[in-house]
Amino acid sequence: MVLNSDNLKKLYIEFFKQKGHKFIPNVSLIPENDPTVLFTTAGMHPLVPFLLGQPHPQGKRLVNLQKCFRTSDIDEVGNNFHLSFFEMLGNWSLGDYFKKEAITWSLEFLTSKNWLGLDKNRIYVSVFEGDENVPRDEESARIWQSLGIPKERIFYLSKKENWWGPAGETGPCGPDTEMFYDTGKKSCEKDCKPSCPCGKYFEIWNDVFMEYNKTAEGKYELLDQKNVDTGMGVERTIAVLQGKNSVYEIEEFKPIVDMLKKISKITNEKQEKSIRIIADHIRAATFILAEKIVPKNVEQGYILRRLIRRAIRHGKSLGIEKDFLSELSKIIIKIHSKDYSYLKENEEFILNEMKKEEMRFRKTLAKGLRKFNEIAKNLKNIDGKNAFLLFQSYGFPIEMTKELGKEIGIDVDENGFEEEFKKHQKISRVGAEKKFGSGLADTSEQTVKLHTATHLLNEALRRVLKKRDIIQKGSNITPERLRFDFNFDRGLTDKEIKDVEDLVNEQIKKALPVKRKETTLDEAKKMGAQAVFEQKYGEKIFVYSIGDFSLEICSGPHVKNTKELGKFKIVKEKSISSGVRRIRAILEK
Ligand code: ALA
Repeated sequence: MVLNSDNLKKLYIEFFKQKGHKFIPNVSLIPENDPTVLFTTAGMHPLVPFLLGQPHPQGKRLVNLQKCFRTSDIDEVGNNFHLSFFEMLGNWSLGDYFKKEAITWSLEFLTSKNWLGLDKNRIYVSVFEGDENVPRDEESARIWQSLGIPKERIFYLSKKENWWGPAGETGPCGPDTEMFYDTGKKSCEKDCKPSCPCGKYFEIWNDVFMEYNKTAEGKYELLDQKNVDTGMGVERTIAVLQGKNSVYEIEEFKPIVDMLKKISKITNEKQEKSIRIIADHIRAATFILAEKIVPKNVEQGYILRRLIRRAIRHGKSLGIEKDFLSELSKIIIKIHSKDYSYLKENEEFILNEMKKEEMRFRKTLAKGLRKFNEIAKNLKNIDGKNAFLLFQSYGFPIEMTKELGKEIGIDVDENGFEEEFKKHQKISRVGAEKKFGSGLADTSEQTVKLHTATHLLNEALRRVLKKRDIIQKGSNITPERLRFDFNFDRGLTDKEIKDVEDLVNEQIKKALPVKRKETTLDEAKKMGAQAVFEQKYGEKIFVYSIGDFSLEICSGPHVKNTKELGKFKIVKEKSISSGVRRIRAILEK
């Protein structure tokens, strides 16, 4: 039987369940309670506190399927194996098993006839070659050899290739060992080896040995516990299993690519790359829109805008002059709704936003391209002022101007653009990009405080508004502020806002203890704990209580006592969609 992605996901989860792993849910693409990262870029993001030692309610062995979005490889999108949005299967050891079991199980799953049954003779691996901080990973190499992978197929690679994390500036990280499948293609040159971008070796799985913590001083300290974090790319593995040349040929992409080929006029390979870029970007954009993010010039909305506008521009280069994105998005929603039903539920919103953004950009695109050519004609590089003009008047994200420049060998002064941008908008878009690139940092003290304040606010709203069925519809916390969305069908009066603030501040003054208890979902419900019931929970969960005031299912972290919080203040209250309100609040010293 040729496997498809449904079978692969089922097999993987089943395999690791048999090895004592508990299944944990696929989380949102937009991280909650995490100020330092715009998107979930790997399954490990929500697990950082547990990799650092906090006990996980489901135990020490976990398995999951996680949707991920990364722009770190965006320039590679369009080659045979890079995608910005993808699904990743992963298994974790939180201070339990380590290299031997992780590697043994990876190879068993890949090659055993009972599981994927891939040809062991075509498996190549890489291990970390070592540097001034961390020794060469001879142990992993030895384990591979003991399992029958010969020395000639084991490659020692540098930190750039064989190290994962920390996701932010600091945090858990470690060397990894990566598994590649030889596609059988001819070698591109003499020293073609795993990690070579020619695509002969398809990377399908990465086992990370997270035993280090990178400190703010840049040191690598051994963690108290040795963790394993693995990631298997679903699309890539399916491409390998089905003998496809690229991820764009698998079942999930075929209808998208077919539609694009039908409406465009492609004649050469370079144009094939544009098709792939559009397919990837609009798939990613559809998933981001489903999280109720809309195109904007900052943060997630900016990344979304970039994806959509780049797709339109590539579409134009293929001769597509008519609006096509919402049709494409419809196909994507149809393909993925069986696993992600919220795509279907939000279809109208997604298609509408897609249409609006396409309409907006088409108005200026042709003129913008003319302007670009006019500017570029007599110059060796495009300065900040002109790049900003293209952004401001024609809606060209700087990345698009850079890409256009690259196509004709012209540089763009990105720093100059940033200066102009700041002058005009006083918002640092670079800040958003940095966050995006670097991922998760540690949970800062202020974020933890605001997280506890969010629990107080959640309960205070129910009490002041005398409506027990108020529930959390969304939450996002940065070190500066909390943001809390909840169901309520009108704006709050000034008095209600004041009452909520007072009630929260009263609890802070009372110096209430914050306690964590491990329990099951049923028990927690019986206890009357608050939860985000739209979210799926595992078998075992944590419940946090704040004195007798609040009880909520949550995996933390929180402060120990409300007296640590400072003064709570609501700075904004508004509607974000029908029946949903949003509060922004801060803690003053
Ligand atoms: N976190 C690792 C990765 O994403 C497994 O490759």
